[in-house]
Amino acid sequence: QTGKLWGGRFAGGPSPELEALSRSTHFDWRLAPYDLAGSRAHARVLHGAGLLTDDELAGMLEGLVELDRRVAAGEFVAAQSDEDVHGALERGLVEILGPELGGKLRAGRSRNDQVATQFKLYLRDHARVVGRLALDLVDALAGQAETHLGAIMPGRTHLQAAQPVLLSHHLLAHAWPLVRDVQRIRDWDARVAVDSPYGSGALAGSSLGLDPMAVATDLGFDSSSANSIDGTASRDFVAELAFVLAMIGVDVSRQAEEVILWATKEFGFATLDDAFSTGSSIMPQKKNPDISELARGKAGRVIGNLAGLMATLKALPLAYNRDLQEDKEPVFDSLDTLEVLLPAFAGQMATLTFHTDRMAELAPAGFSLATDVAEWLVREGVPFREAHEIAGACVRACEGRGIELADLSDDDFAAIDPRLTAAVRDVLTVEGSVASRDGRGGTAPVRVAEQLAELRGETGRL
Ligand code: ARG
Repeated sequence: QTGKLWGGRFAGGPSPELEALSRSTHFDWRLAPYDLAGSRAHARVLHGAGLLTDDELAGMLEGLVELDRRVAAGEFVAAQSDEDVHGALERGLVEILGPELGGKLRAGRSRNDQVATQFKLYLRDHARVVGRLALDLVDALAGQAETHLGAIMPGRTHLQAAQPVLLSHHLLAHAWPLVRDVQRIRDWDARVAVDSPYGSGALAGSSLGLDPMAVATDLGFDSSSANSIDGTASRDFVAELAFVLAMIGVDVSRQAEEVILWATKEFGFATLDDAFSTGSSIMPQKKNPDISELARGKAGRVIGNLAGLMATLKALPLAYNRDLQEDKEPVFDSLDTLEVLLPAFAGQMATLTFHTDRMAELAPAGFSLATDVAEWLVREGVPFREAHEIAGACVRACEGRGIELADLSDDDFAAIDPRLTAAVRDVLTVEGSVASRDGRGGTAPVRVAEQLAELRGETGRL
């Protein structure tokens, strides 16, 4: 009697080296409440199948409630000899109920279907938390967009001056990917909801007449696994969530990089709130964007978690293999990381002070209105190829003299091309430029106001 879940065919206990390698209680203990919920549901189907009497079921449920209490109070903890949370909790139940009744719960289930089910329950709960936190960041971005709805900034491609855009448009461009990430979490959840593995046993299902659908319903699933091998051996649900979490990390890192640039003296677009920035131990003047830097760094970490998980799954034969014990830490770490990062990042974005005068002043720099000149010519009937050439000639003329497009005189324009009449000046303001981009999805203030309402409608549904 080794005290193990699997002691019967072994003459002696495992070596300490094996125990040290095998042990997972230091990271799977967080599954304990879900293990106990699964056990309560399992006790009920054992009763339903006639394998527990009414009294036994009542006793079993009482024992599980007591164990739950002990775990929550920290009175019951993992022992050195416990291999994983599932084995430990069975030990705890037997301690409370004795081996006669406590020993009946394991019938018809395996740690393979237990762990797959509990893992799904845990991930569903925490994915929901991360989704809410991501929406808080969306709210922070939407709030800033609303405050600065008409403010104009330099829009960039290749980080080079491109065309003026509204700051609100730019901020909302960071919000939409997060909205899609939350939609991805919802899609993922709907897939997980129809796949409760309990009842799959070790791989082949159960011979004891247990009802997997009853357990599934009890645990908040819509359905049980259609295939017991798939139920115990597949981990695409972990990889898919790890991807969405990595994507959130990457999406946040793109905002982070811009905040880091915007907060530099050279850009001067934004100032961080004191509560969301840090100082230097030696340079008294410093105000550092640590939250954004950590966001950038943690994106690497969550990408690594996804990559590691995929490597664990690659070429793994069916059904359950112990390799799968490596599935938990990466995604737990990604969830933990985002649960700490997102609130800090949302606070940073909500409290950022934008220097809209400076942004507006730089918006026309770098000939960002050259496209407007070309499109004005198109509206005058000039073919775009030619219009592009003419606007390019305007830029060349300015560059030689160190001036901007609006500094060209009427005569300068006429000398470049007679079709460039004084009326072209109408489009040589950043306000005119943004207002003219008024198709759906464009940066015109009227469109961005609509877009903000659309975004809020979408987040309201999530
Ligand atoms: N702790 C394991 C895991 O996390 C579950 C135990 C399955 N072990 C086994 N020998 N079948 O995947």
